[in-house]
Amino acid sequence: MTDYDKYYTTEDLFGEPYSVLIDFFKQYEPKGKLIDLGCGQGRNSIPLSRLGYKVAGLDNSKIGVNQMIEKSNIENLKITGFVGDIYGFDTFQDFDIVLLDSMFHFEKRDMQKETGLIKKIAKRIKTSGLICICIQDTGAKVRILKDTIKKTKLDFDILNDSSLIYNYEDIASGHKSKTKYCMFIVKKK
Ligand SMILES: C[S@@+](CC[C@H](N)C(=O)[O-])C[C@H]1O[C@@H](n2cnc3c(N)ncnc32)[C@H](O)[C@@H]1O
Repeated sequence: MTDYDKYYTTEDLFGEPYSVLIDFFKQYEPKGKLIDLGCGQGRNSIPLSRLGYKVAGLDNSKIGVNQMIEKSNIENLKITGFVGDIYGFDTFQDFDIVLLDSMFHFEKRDMQKETGLIKKIAKRIKTSGLICICIQDTGAKVRILKDTIKKTKLDFDILNDSSLIYNYEDIASGHKSKTKYCMFIVKKK
């Protein structure tokens, strides 16, 4: 059982998806195959599937993945859910869009693993493929993210580089927080 298996006893733990993310993907064409790495309870996978993307969600929380699938079944959405480790996944070439929301923290102990995954995605994603990463904006973390992509020396167009405020409410305690986030979307040339 993972920590998130316990946290996900709270329904919709992370609340609503960011409006900038939904607005971006609403206008984006084509609505291709998207993998949501660390999809959790489907905060992004479900609305993106409603928009017409062919969504696959991968998470190591079986409870999160099951909740996402149950919800998607109610609306007859065709989301594929996988339980597994995002660091063991490498068939990024099968997808048009790779999404990672709140998956990177760039703490010292995880730095190599996290930047390694970004490099792997950048290398394997197909031409015209998108990488969308949402990350807490402490300044330094966003710099690390952008430097990591730059250092691959692969050609990407920046399609979106947005600052947003993520409003989180802990339902149990009523505690509310506002966190500065960055949504960074690049397209492989
Ligand atoms: C902060 S939550 C974000 C969930 C979702 N992306 C969102 O924004 O609502 C982190 C998620 O990543 C999952 N996770 C963490 N490490 C993972 C790994 N190595 N492989 C797969 N899932 C992982 C957790 O189970 C959790 O669902």
